[in-house]
Amino acid sequence: MRFSVSFPGGDTEYYLQSGYSQLLQLAPVAHSIIVTDTNVHRLYGHLFSEYRILIIEAGEKHKTWETIQLLAEKLAAFEAHKRTRLVGIGGGMVTDITGFLASVYMRGIACSFVPTSLLAMVDAAIGGKNGINIGPYKNMLGNIRQPGFILYDLSFLESLQEKEWSNGFAEVIKYACIGDAGLLEELSASTLTAYKIRPEKLNGLIHRCVQQKNTIVLADEQENGIRKLLNFGHTTGHAFETLYHLQHGQAVAFGMIVALIASEAILGVSRELRPQLVSILEQYGLQSRLRIDVEKVIDAVKRDKKRKEGTIDFILLQEAGKAIVEPVTFDQVRSALQIFADEYRP
Ligand SMILES: NC(=O)c1ccc[n+]([C@@H]2O[C@H](COP(=O)([O-])OP(=O)(O)OC[C@H]3O[C@@H](n4cnc5c(N)ncnc54)[C@H](O)[C@@H]3O)[C@@H](O)[C@H]2O)c1
Repeated sequence: MRFSVSFPGGDTEYYLQSGYSQLLQLAPVAHSIIVTDTNVHRLYGHLFSEYRILIIEAGEKHKTWETIQLLAEKLAAFEAHKRTRLVGIGGGMVTDITGFLASVYMRGIACSFVPTSLLAMVDAAIGGKNGINIGPYKNMLGNIRQPGFILYDLSFLESLQEKEWSNGFAEVIKYACIGDAGLLEELSASTLTAYKIRPEKLNGLIHRCVQQKNTIVLADEQENGIRKLLNFGHTTGHAFETLYHLQHGQAVAFGMIVALIASEAILGVSRELRPQLVSILEQYGLQSRLRIDVEKVIDAVKRDKKRKEGTIDFILLQEAGKAIVEPVTFDQVRSALQIFADEYRP
């Protein structure tokens, strides 16, 4: 299935339910350079051996300026020029690095993605945001630049570890919470295995997430308003990710529980929603219990990009499928974290 989305910052061609072999037509070997990580290269490097390839160490800790510098030097050595296209083949770490590198090399060259993790397929590859970490500051450098095409081949997911499937589902559950109560019900009535073994069911789910993210990004590409809703669970989630060395999706899962606790206190959202969310998270292999040091988490939250004078923009739920952005005080965040620390201790 092929369709195009025209963002203010550029068009993205989507190739859903496609095959990897299309890459040769979409990205001619002579003008394209692949960026991938060590894991994806070990598993799939033979598929793109005709291309020039830049391989980065796998893992979030390599989403750094040092990696960008190393890659930029290699691009220069390859004599990459304004008409060169970078193609990021990998998970969200690879798509973020590739998008950022393409946006700064020679003041901007084209880039495209072949997402290979569920998380990248439903979220990271879509919408043009990229980012790299500066020490403990998550995604502190970055910009918004749309990829030329995104090519989906679900067969990559066959080698994905179980915990990476769960990480991807954390972002799917996020979409359901902020804007698709029907999806929350569908997830509740289904299982991870059911999506894994039924490609048409998984395709439908990915398509639904792609559409929801594109609708939001089309309305607010530069994240001045509604796009902030996609950060549901991410404010404390990023703090958990950095402090407790968690995978992005798992960290967001904990962050969504904290955000729901804050929603109960600030907006009076029904307390029945929290056990429902926790049971869906667990159903998709995500943990709900974590030992935290509330003050350390608060210090990390204060380093978040969404911080303002005395408050931070927090995404709260009004009800299942309906979210708002609300400036909350650090005391309110602290209270929610304290409840999480007490009630969700392992
Ligand atoms: N730009 C955005 O809008 C956006 C949105 C959400 C997340 N993100 C970013 O995405 C990253 C998280 O994404 P992720 O979970 O995909 O991380 P990741 O890229 O680190 O991938 C997770 C692991 O899975 C491996 N992997 C990837 N594809 C595989 C495959 N087909 N088979 C086997 N192993 C495979 C990777 O090598 C890695 O070890 C974070 O850096 C996060 O900040 C960005």
